[in-house]
Amino acid sequence: MLKGKNAVITGASRGIGRAIALKFAENGANVAILYNGSKDKAEKVAQEAAAFGVKAKAYACNVALADACKETVSEIIKDFDGIDILVNNAGITRDKLALQMDENDFDAVIATNLKGAFHMIQCCYRNFMKKKYGKIINISSVSGIMGNAGQANYSASKAGIIGLTKTIAKELAGRHVCCNAIAPGFIETDMTESFKENEELLHMIPLKRMGKAEEVAALAVFLADDVSDYITGEVIRIDGGLAM
Ligand code: NAI
Repeated sequence: MLKGKNAVITGASRGIGRAIALKFAENGANVAILYNGSKDKAEKVAQEAAAFGVKAKAYACNVALADACKETVSEIIKDFDGIDILVNNAGITRDKLALQMDENDFDAVIATNLKGAFHMIQCCYRNFMKKKYGKIINISSVSGIMGNAGQANYSASKAGIIGLTKTIAKELAGRHVCCNAIAPGFIETDMTESFKENEELLHMIPLKRMGKAEEVAALAVFLADDVSDYITGEVIRIDGGLAM
């Protein structure tokens, strides 16, 4: 389905990013696996991806740093001969009630979740304009749609992702570049480890279970594929009905 396409996935050493990288590879895409600290894990994901017969390489890239994004993207463009798909997945939480949240907690989350996506899009912008084709997928969250007590920083970053997505969709539509956002609810990953046994939380979800990273990855494949060429500027919830 994605045969011969070159995809870049940020924060892909584990969780949802890892699942997306592997699902893309399974569908024939070459994958650039970006990681922040976990070199070994990222190399392992690259090995697993390469087993599908595609090109796969891990790159260290802290998306909060504009220069790191610039260097990494130009390296990837050289190595892969262009980028067709960009997935902005890297994200962190620093949860606290707004009253107790210090400026560093706020800035760190905005820098990775929102500015990180902006940096990566900006670095890939010319590549997409030149190609007159592209798929940008930004990972938002239902917290960005509904708000969530204790997540002023995170919700603001994820709501910002939605504004960024719609703006880029409008800017690049003339070049046949689609830009969409995925808004997951509770997905089983390291980020949500502490929620797993929380009965109260599961009760709030109409489908009564947490989602799986592979389910988010399947949606990312759909948005990366040509079948969704007429969808842009959209935010798709994958949350078991939580934000309905
Ligand atoms: P995770 O914590 O397992 O993975 C996040 C990845 O981002 C890690 O590989 C981490 O190293 C990377 N990362 C963090 N800071 C980075 C930086 N500055 N530069 C580059 N990479 C960085 O989390 P998970 O659950 O896989 O989350 C992936 C995305 O999905 C995040 O954007 C998260 O906000 C979003 N999301 C997750 C939900 C969930 O329930 N797990 C729900 C809604 C959204």
